[in-house]
Amino acid sequence: MSNISPLVIGLAGFGTVGSGLAEVLRLNQDLIRARIGRDIRIKTVLVRDLKKPRTYALPEGATVTVNPDDLSNDPEIDILVELMGGKDLACDLITDALHAGKNIVTANKALLAEKGTELFNLAAEKNLGLAFEASVCGAIPILQVLRESLAGNKISSLMGILNGTSNYILSEMSEKGISFETALKEAQAKGYAEADPTFDIEGVDAAHKLTLLIRIAFGVDYPFKQLGTQGISEVSTEDIAFARELGYRIKLLGQARCLNGKIEAGVYPTLVSKNMQIASTDGVFNAVHVEGNAAGPVFMHGRGAGGLATASAVLGDILEIARCGKPNNTGFMTQYLPAAEIMPSDEAISQHYLHLMVSDKPGVLRDLAGALAEQGVSVAQAIQKEQGHSHVPIVFLTHEAPAKSINNALALIQAKNLLGHRPVHYRVLK
Ligand code: NAP
Ligand code: HSE
Repeated sequence: MSNISPLVIGLAGFGTVGSGLAEVLRLNQDLIRARIGRDIRIKTVLVRDLKKPRTYALPEGATVTVNPDDLSNDPEIDILVELMGGKDLACDLITDALHAGKNIVTANKALLAEKGTELFNLAAEKNLGLAFEASVCGAIPILQVLRESLAGNKISSLMGILNGTSNYILSEMSEKGISFETALKEAQAKGYAEADPTFDIEGVDAAHKLTLLIRIAFGVDYPFKQLGTQGISEVSTEDIAFARELGYRIKLLGQARCLNGKIEAGVYPTLVSKNMQIASTDGVFNAVHVEGNAAGPVFMHGRGAGGLATASAVLGDILEIARCGKPNNTGFMTQYLPAAEIMPSDEAISQHYLHLMVSDKPGVLRDLAGALAEQGVSVAQAIQKEQGHSHVPIVFLTHEAPAKSINNALALIQAKNLLGHRPVHYRVLK
């Protein structure tokens, strides 16, 4: 045993990730000692309910409390590890801990994406670490790779499957024919989902993560509220089947590109060619594809959620702080990032998938094709299914076109009263 005093942790939250951290610390204690030359001790654990039965034993010798001041006010605590989630209390606790001179490790992407600027600025002012690898893509060390290994590259684009729960749901619906609701319940039971699972299924969690990725990849502060965000709650088994017939999988992708200094970014259900690596990223796995101007394409794949996988990233941040002490919250010399220049999403160019329920009568196909042609959109593939109903599905896969042209064409089609329900429109990635 090393005679240097242990690194002392105050742990806020002992749920999926907090108990996962305690487990990895117990499992790998010899390795950790070899890496940093000292032990790590969890001194105090903050929970909401002292009487709640715990499936994983609390760390030996730790005090359990419901009072956040017991963490922020304790001079013996070196690092506050915030794994409780939520925005208000977590924000107050991190703010108090920074004022008290503690480094912070957090997995709270909602807090950092929505209120991060103030917290990062406070950490910069205090010259303290605010590390958040676990906030983005679970076990995948994407922030470390962007900040360090790819630091010499201009990043032109990044895209990825950034939410384990929604990827789990889409995979289960697509591969096993399981319903959306059942798949969501399974993801919740496995500890993948957020406390409010609408964050997962409506793309909000992926947008939180994309905001943080943009920060590190492009060195700019992108306001979370301005990200175009669409989730998977309306992705139907019918669209999954049409996509498959066309040679694609439907994935919830977060994408950001830097074009002439402007960032075009958003989270959308997207058709991905079945030949792309990202198309076979299934279940709780996440994947990120980054394009650097020296490295070219870099692809990373790993568990996007779950206790141990996320704790791996939390522990990586703790060890980094223990080894270096010096904060590297942005990966740039400046710890205060400039505001992003934003490109409107409808200027983004891609192929598009359109699923239209139209009246089964002569001339409809001509009107649809006419509206697309009027906007300069050309059709690459089409499927029409006879169903013996008053409305039939027509699916178009277009050639590349700006999103604005597709939206204009859809407005023309809707104005002609040809549609039986709201059109389905997804981007396509080849
Ligand atoms: P969780 O299982 O719900 O655990 C939350 C923990 O925080 C519980 O121990 C809870 O106490 C405690 N807590 C919550 N609100 C509190 C409050 N107001 N006061 C005191 N304690 C409070 O959550 P989780 O899944 O571990 O997620 C924690 C954080 O990690 C979130 O920010 C989440 O977004 C992020 N994250 C999660 C995953 C994942 O796979 N689950 C992956 C990456 C990031 P009780 O135990 O007494 O209820
Ligand atoms: N709810 C999140 C997900 C947890 O499913 O990806 C990991 O950030």
